[in-house]
Amino acid sequence: MTQSRRILITGGAGFIGSNFVHHWCRQHPGDRVVVLDALTYAGNRANLASLESHPQFRFVAGDICDRPLIDQLLREEAIDTVAHLAAESHVDRSILGPDAFIRTNVVGSFTLLEAFRQHWLAQQQPEHFRFLHVSTDEVYGSLSPTDPAFSETTPYAPNSPYSASKAGSDHLARAYFHTYGLPTLITNCSNNYGPYHFPEKLIPLMCINILMGKALPVYGDGQNVRDWLYVEDHCQALDVVIQRGQPGETYNVGGNNEVKNLELVEMLCDLMDELAPDLPIKPSRQLITFVKDRPGHDRRYAINATKIRTELGWEPQVTVSEGLQKTVQWYLSHREWWQPLLSPEYQAYYAKVYSETA
Ligand code: NAD
Ligand code: DAU
Repeated sequence: MTQSRRILITGGAGFIGSNFVHHWCRQHPGDRVVVLDALTYAGNRANLASLESHPQFRFVAGDICDRPLIDQLLREEAIDTVAHLAAESHVDRSILGPDAFIRTNVVGSFTLLEAFRQHWLAQQQPEHFRFLHVSTDEVYGSLSPTDPAFSETTPYAPNSPYSASKAGSDHLARAYFHTYGLPTLITNCSNNYGPYHFPEKLIPLMCINILMGKALPVYGDGQNVRDWLYVEDHCQALDVVIQRGQPGETYNVGGNNEVKNLELVEMLCDLMDELAPDLPIKPSRQLITFVKDRPGHDRRYAINATKIRTELGWEPQVTVSEGLQKTVQWYLSHREWWQPLLSPEYQAYYAKVYSETA
């Protein structure tokens, strides 16, 4: 039988966070679920609209750097589990302006850890308390084509302000276990895709640009490799780590689906050509445009997920072709979700990053 929990999910209005909130409410219907999210440009309360009337659900608009607010929430909601997903998450934005990444990812994670430690101490250190720190494979740096995939013992070598800030927070979560015995767990996951993915990221950006007949900007030579995981598979991994993971441990999570960027974009073009009724430009592949490379662009990520498979019995369930088909269908049938996100602020960001092709 699984333990009933009172869970605080930070970043629950973002991409993975909102998928995780829906997952948790489906899988653990009796649990209290409190979402804390600052609703930055990447947070969207509408992602959780169907849960707003659920008696066990509460949404709090607030910042993970706000210690008094966190202390109050932990106490009044008697939280025993934290799933920490709030972050600044986009590498290109971290290159344009790293400040927010240090503030939220490092200072915010520290603030949460310290507040949770004090709360855990005040409750006499209950054994079932858990703090899951959700992190990324980017902390391990970049692989050559022949290197073995990242394992939990691969040394950290972050290359962007984003991955460096995530590495800093991983080290804090680890130190809180080793120094204080706080039951922290860390997951390092590969690239996710699926519903509610903000338009700035590769897969939604390409889907939306194909639908609008805009150039498809591929960085560099398009041969960089990412390991793609359908977001629901990631949510299931986070669930098993909370339920059965060993405090103090790190678990790598990946899809075993290494794909070169150019191949991925071509797959999306072909899927859109097949599924979208009226594309302004068809075949979509003619929209592919090579643009200036991302500074410090990591060449390849790959995850060895043997530990979570053998110790916790988790395996991805969704293949890339199945997941991409579902995702393309979702963007086709949710124009009302993504159209408002292409705001003047977003267009200004887009013009800065893609000045060569905008
Ligand atoms: P996202 O950018 O879509 O969502 C982040 C959420 O955090 C948003 O709702 C935002 O409003 C909220 N947030 C930002 N700053 C905050 C603050 N100071 N206080 C409270 N809330 C704040 O990100 P995502 O892609 O869903 O990623 C979620 C987590 O998973 C991140 O920690 C990220 O590093 C990690 N991760 C992401 C991927 C991926 O492929 N997207 C892969 C591995 C790990
Ligand atoms: O690996 C996990 C990470 O995956 C997460 O930690 C990050 O939060 C998440 O944003 C993602 O980072 P990436 O930088 O890999 O994702 P992104 O979608 O930005 O880019 C994927 C690849 O596509 C990368 O090699 C850069 C390339 N790219 C991206 C964009 C937005 C392009 O070629 N053109 C683009 O316009």
